[in-house]
Amino acid sequence: MIFETHAHYDDASFDNDRDLLMQNLLSDKISAILNVGASIESTKRTIALAEKYDAVYAAVGVHPGEIGDWKEESIHWLREQARHPKVVAIGEIGLDYHWEKDPVAQQKQRQCFAQQMELAKERRLPVIIHSRDAAEDTMQIMKSVHADEIPGVVHCYSYSPELAAEFLKMGYYIGVGGVVTFKNAKKLKEVVRQVPLEKILLETDAPYMAPEPFRGKRNDSSLLVYVAEAIAELRGISKEEVERVTMENACRLFLPQTVKEVS
Ligand code: NI
Repeated sequence: MIFETHAHYDDASFDNDRDLLMQNLLSDKISAILNVGASIESTKRTIALAEKYDAVYAAVGVHPGEIGDWKEESIHWLREQARHPKVVAIGEIGLDYHWEKDPVAQQKQRQCFAQQMELAKERRLPVIIHSRDAAEDTMQIMKSVHADEIPGVVHCYSYSPELAAEFLKMGYYIGVGGVVTFKNAKKLKEVVRQVPLEKILLETDAPYMAPEPFRGKRNDSSLLVYVAEAIAELRGISKEEVERVTMENACRLFLPQTVKEVS
C-alpha cells in the first residue's frame, strides 16, 4: 500500500472523473491521500475533498506562485482552516524564484512563507515546503523561524545531495516524485541513493510531474508504483520495501496520532 503525500485532486483537470478516480485509487493501491492546497480557493476545495473521503487528508496554505491572493487577513483565515480535524499540514508554502524574478514579489513570497511557518509552529502541524531556485533564502528563513522545531518535508526535491543533508539535519523529509524516473535527473537520483530511506516520502504532485513512461500526461497516484520502482532500483532493494517504509514515514509525519511505537 502507498501513502500519497502530495496531490492536487481539486485541480480542474480532474473535473470530469474525480469521484471515479478517487474511488478506484482508494480501493486499490492507495491507502491515504494528502491533498495539498496552493491558494485560498484550492484550500477550500481541498478541505471539501477531505470531508468527502475518509482516507483523504488536507494541507492548507498559499503557494509562492499564488500570493497575488494574499491579504493581511489571509493568515487569520488559514489559522481557522488549520483547526479542521482533517487538516494535517500547512502547505504548500515556500519560495519560487524560477517563475518569479521580480524582487518585490520575491520579498512578499519570503514574508508569506515565514508567516505560514510560524502558523505551523503555533498549530503544531508539519509543513510542506515548495522551494525552487531559492535554496539560500529558503534555508535562511527556515533558520530564522527555527524550522528544526517544525517537522516537515521539502516537496519535489530539486537541490543537491549536500543541501539535502542540511535539510535532514533540521529533521526534514525529502519528497520524491515522477522526476526520479527521468533519464536526466542525475542530481535527484544521487539524492535518493544517499538519503536514508526513513526520510523519503512518495508524492505525485498530480496532475503534474507524471513519471516515465507517462511523462507529460496527467498524473495520478496510481503511477506512484513507477516512482517506488525507480527508488527501489537506485537503492538495490525491493519495491515492496520502498512502499512499506515510505508509508511508515508518511504516517509518522502527517498522522502521528495513529502511529504505534514499534519496538
Ligand atoms: Ni504541489
